Amino acid sequence: MNKLDSQSASEIVIFGALGDLSRRKLLPALYQLEACGLINENSRIIGVARPTHDLEEFKAFVLENINTFVKESLDESVLARFMARLVYQQVDLVEVEAYEGLAKTLLAGNKTRVYYFSTSPAIYGNICDGLNHANLVTDNDRVVMEKPIGHCLESSKVINNQVARFFKENQIYRIDHYLGKETVLNLLVLRFANSLFTTNWDRNSIDHVQITVAESVGIEGRWGFYDEAGQMRDMIQNHLLQVLSLLAMEPPADLSAESIRAEKLKAVKALAPIDRNNVKEKTVRGQYADGYLNGVGVPGYLNEEGANTTSKTETFVAIKAEINNWRWSGVPFYLRTGKRMPAKHSEIVVHFKAQPHNIFKDSHSDLPANKLTIRLQPDEGVELQMMNKIPGIATQMNIQENKLDLSFNDTYKDQRVIDAYERLMLEVLNGNQSLFVSRDEVEAAWTWADSIIDAWKSTNEAPKPYAAGSWGPVSSISLIARDDRQWVE
Ligand code: BG6
Repeated sequence: MNKLDSQSASEIVIFGALGDLSRRKLLPALYQLEACGLINENSRIIGVARPTHDLEEFKAFVLENINTFVKESLDESVLARFMARLVYQQVDLVEVEAYEGLAKTLLAGNKTRVYYFSTSPAIYGNICDGLNHANLVTDNDRVVMEKPIGHCLESSKVINNQVARFFKENQIYRIDHYLGKETVLNLLVLRFANSLFTTNWDRNSIDHVQITVAESVGIEGRWGFYDEAGQMRDMIQNHLLQVLSLLAMEPPADLSAESIRAEKLKAVKALAPIDRNNVKEKTVRGQYADGYLNGVGVPGYLNEEGANTTSKTETFVAIKAEINNWRWSGVPFYLRTGKRMPAKHSEIVVHFKAQPHNIFKDSHSDLPANKLTIRLQPDEGVELQMMNKIPGIATQMNIQENKLDLSFNDTYKDQRVIDAYERLMLEVLNGNQSLFVSRDEVEAAWTWADSIIDAWKSTNEAPKPYAAGSWGPVSSISLIARDDRQWVE
């Protein structure tokens, strides 16, 4: 996908350059692209923020954060090249006139301007107004937007409309960083480069699918922000639905953004609605209580710093999602995600159907069905559980469940594990939208999520408590056990 040759010179403008996302992810990602020789020699990186800083102060800030967040040792010559690209521009982002200063800083000419909105979405509209006021919008420019795009369908439309006044859809890159993860990208390869999974990927072969995205961290000092969102808006509406749509979509005609996004959209649109009538049966919300992680006591959500002790915000969600189409009718996709779970652990487990008839029943009354496990993080890899004969002489056939295990760490030892933002930043520079979320997808995802959130609100029930360091509330076990299935631990 690297179109190194086609990469033209860019002015990469980061709004909110001093913020958390910029220092932890964007600047380190750009440094890594520099190290790989993937940034055009004439491109510049313009940090924009409200505080007054001179260039040397900004460079010191960048250096400190690259030192902190780039895991590999830094290369002096790469660093020198990278530092030479940096520019700092003070702008009060909500003052339209302030963008005139930015206009003077940005170079005229035919460079592509990439505007990265690494700020609160509440001011995306202000940034667009400012850019327009300062004549900084042309058809050649690109906008990169971070989530959350809204709090619900309506508010997402407001944000998207504000940006759409000045930028066309083909100029807008909406980030869902899960789409930049190697293991998520590999879903396309696994499904569409292996005939084994081309033919066995539907209701005839698959019993059900589990998608788990567990985090051991709590809300990491962002109580106020998180409490407004909750796990449904923070993780399911975007990351888990993106993973689900890649798993469930029909084969795209090619790797173009139009083809991939159209198929993902159809999958999300085919999700069976969950509303007030079935929300209790199909979903579980939880909230972590005091507990232990690796033997250390950790506070519950309501005891975190800054917490409002009456909050009913969920930190855990489990959902039985169903897709109403020919391929997936009758195949549940069980989604589960939570904070303060025992470990950071994300995986997809595809449970195939059992054999129709067991010829080994004299020795094995139960033949476990095949399972395909796609380990998203950590310990990235793909594992296929299958039955195998234990070698040796015996009167009966001794068989055993075993696995074919493709561990990325072992197989690709010499490859650096790249961060999702490196991939996504590269695709923005290359003008490839296939790893970004279209407006239609955002809206379809909100439509489905809003209906669930609305149904929860109508019940007015508090989320079920679960001890920090556990796998969620007991009712999440019942959710799947009712179907005679169980979560893979
Ligand atoms: C973010 C959420 O989008 O994704 C965070 O806002 C979450 O709450 C994070 O912790 C998880 O990302 P990753 O890459 O660590 O799985």
